[in-house]
Amino acid sequence: MFAVYATHAALDDPLSALKVGERPDPDVPEGWVRVKVSHASLNRHDLFTLRGLSGHPEGICYPIILGNDAAGTLDDGTPVVVYPVMGGTDWRGDETLDPQWHIPSEFVDGTFADYTIVPRRNAIPLPGTLSPLHASVLGTAWLTAYRALFTRSGLRAGETLLVQGATGGMATALIQLGRAAGFEVWVTSRSEEGRARARALGAHESFPANEALPRRARAVIDSIGLDSWAHGLSSLARGGTPVTVGGTTGFEVPLNLLPVVADQLTITGSIMGTLKDMEDMMRLIARAGVEPEIGAVLPMERAEEGFRAMWEGRTHGKTVFTR
Ligand SMILES: NC(=O)c1ccc[n+]([C@@H]2O[C@H](COP(=O)([O-])OP(=O)(O)OC[C@H]3O[C@@H](n4cnc5c(N)ncnc54)[C@H](OP(=O)(O)O)[C@@H]3O)[C@@H](O)[C@H]2O)c1
Repeated sequence: MFAVYATHAALDDPLSALKVGERPDPDVPEGWVRVKVSHASLNRHDLFTLRGLSGHPEGICYPIILGNDAAGTLDDGTPVVVYPVMGGTDWRGDETLDPQWHIPSEFVDGTFADYTIVPRRNAIPLPGTLSPLHASVLGTAWLTAYRALFTRSGLRAGETLLVQGATGGMATALIQLGRAAGFEVWVTSRSEEGRARARALGAHESFPANEALPRRARAVIDSIGLDSWAHGLSSLARGGTPVTVGGTTGFEVPLNLLPVVADQLTITGSIMGTLKDMEDMMRLIARAGVEPEIGAVLPMERAEEGFRAMWEGRTHGKTVFTR
């Protein structure tokens, strides 16, 4: 079948490991289903896979088909969206706490292909309120944004949320969901274009990256890491919550414990979300009339253009590949 895959790890030149071509059709294990992919969205995780960066100590087994997220149809024609978090068959409860959890393109082939396979429970029937295009962006960045906001940040409606970064898939999801939830949404961006886009999407205020803010926020959600972490900590009100969901510019950050102690900050990590989080988010999006921001739609054959734009920092919102 047609697929977009990583041939090897290429830390400094990830596009050299990107291949668009043929891969074997997947076998479908008992209890799994095959999804004919119509839409699949790009995540920075796909660049990490090309670079050989993995959160799992086992590492990545190449070649591997890329892609975490997808929408498409089952063999019986049912339209579905993929919930990406898979794990041990015996695990019960919060999927993100399962020691064996993983997402497509880590231990099993990913979604940038004619077909992808997932455990049956991971194929969520698509409600009529959601198009496959918009559903295809929800699995990773949007799900993570939802959990960070509603489970991990402790924010209540009316309180101030600071989102670090404005243009990315995660940042745009945080802006749109935060606005729908009634938070005051503040954003930072490296560019005036990013700040203007954030305001157009619903941010109440936008500021240049690392600039001092007029007052302090109740929570900061940060996916940038090294370049923004210190600014986020210094932007928090007493009792506030810095939530880290990623480290695009590096995971190793300087940490001054004094404000953590004196301001009683609760440093919090957040990753992906539960199946229930995903279903709740789909309901919220439908009821609040949120349409996820999509910056580019490309036929999957032209995936390299989308990867290159992300590597060079030229994307905004989500990039979706169609089949
Ligand atoms: N915890 C989880 O489960 C989870 C899930 C999804 C993603 N993530 C992580 O979240 C991060 C963002 O993912 P994404 O898919 O949203 O990526 P993306 O679309 O490429 O967005 C990158 C974001 O980082 C900001 N940024 C600041 N400095 C940057 C720099 N030097 N280079 C590139 N970007 C910079 C950009 O903001 P401006 O351009 O506005 O400054 C933009 O908002 C990644 O580290 C990813 O691994 C984590």
